[in-house]
Amino acid sequence: DWVMTDFAKEQIRLLKEKIGDKKVLCALSGGVDSSVAALLIHKAVGKQLTCIFVDHGLLRKNEGDDVERIFKKEFDMNIIRVNAGEQFISALEGVSDPERKRKIIGEEFIRVFEAEAKKIGTVDFLVQGTIYPDVIESGTKNAAVIKSHHNVGGLPDYVDFKEIIEPLRDLFKDEVRDVGRAIGIPEFLVSRQPFPGPGLAIRIIGDITKDKIAILQDADYIFREEVRNAGLDKEIWQYFAVLTNSKSVGVMGDERTYHYTIALRGVTSIDGMTADWARIPYDVLEKMSVRIVNEVDNVNRIVYDITSKPPATIEWE
Ligand code: XMP
Repeated sequence: DWVMTDFAKEQIRLLKEKIGDKKVLCALSGGVDSSVAALLIHKAVGKQLTCIFVDHGLLRKNEGDDVERIFKKEFDMNIIRVNAGEQFISALEGVSDPERKRKIIGEEFIRVFEAEAKKIGTVDFLVQGTIYPDVIESGTKNAAVIKSHHNVGGLPDYVDFKEIIEPLRDLFKDEVRDVGRAIGIPEFLVSRQPFPGPGLAIRIIGDITKDKIAILQDADYIFREEVRNAGLDKEIWQYFAVLTNSKSVGVMGDERTYHYTIALRGVTSIDGMTADWARIPYDVLEKMSVRIVNEVDNVNRIVYDITSKPPATIEWE
């Protein structure tokens, strides 16, 4: 896409001019917007940019390692990965209420980010991956704050910086993806489906434990792999597994089992406001079900969610 290649070149030039020899800080989540914003700045000023990547332990399988490998190894960016999984899990211990989970994760995120940012000291600029729809939605000039409240944390209030930089402020999502491609971000990352800030915490119904996270990561990984194998990943907007808190009776060999039910969720949508459940062919669903039950311990039943939004939401929590 030539238009976006030119946009990227021009942005990099402008950013270089604006930032000069000053310091920049970025909260990298591994999502499309923050990744593209961070790499643009890196292309402009290199190691003057420090990215803090808070791994809350509630990411999808391998996701934290993927983000670190791509940005640290391949792009040689200055990235601090904070493995805060233990801290988040203990803060969430015994908590079942979805909104409390969100609140705890948001607060914990700020705490971890702030502690890391303090070590760096005052920076001149803070990068935000605000895109045009965020600006419209907020209806104010201060889109960055709104966006950060939507996602995890509320950074601008808590970090010592002089000015916000929002290099993607004028772009729609598809354009952000094209800029990402133009500057060499791998396709799997650039075409990523939306992923909620609180991550798997809101896809485990009820309380969260390490074991439950591992079960869900494995089931979700197989589901996503089979969606891709079936060539459905481009047409389905979001697709993921949910660990329902229900156990049910099953049979394995001569023995009865009493294990978890995994729900699979796939929806088509334009913007996430409304959504239709994805018509995944039966034979594909069959394959997913057999694989998950065979390959993931403690799971003996798979169901597919056939509700649209409304009346259901996309996520289960
Ligand atoms: P629902 O479940 O409300 O989701 O139909 C609509 C879209 O929003 C995402 N979502 C979230 N994103 N933090 C986020 O960053 C959250 O707490 C959150 N809850 C839902 C959801 O994945 C879908 O894309």
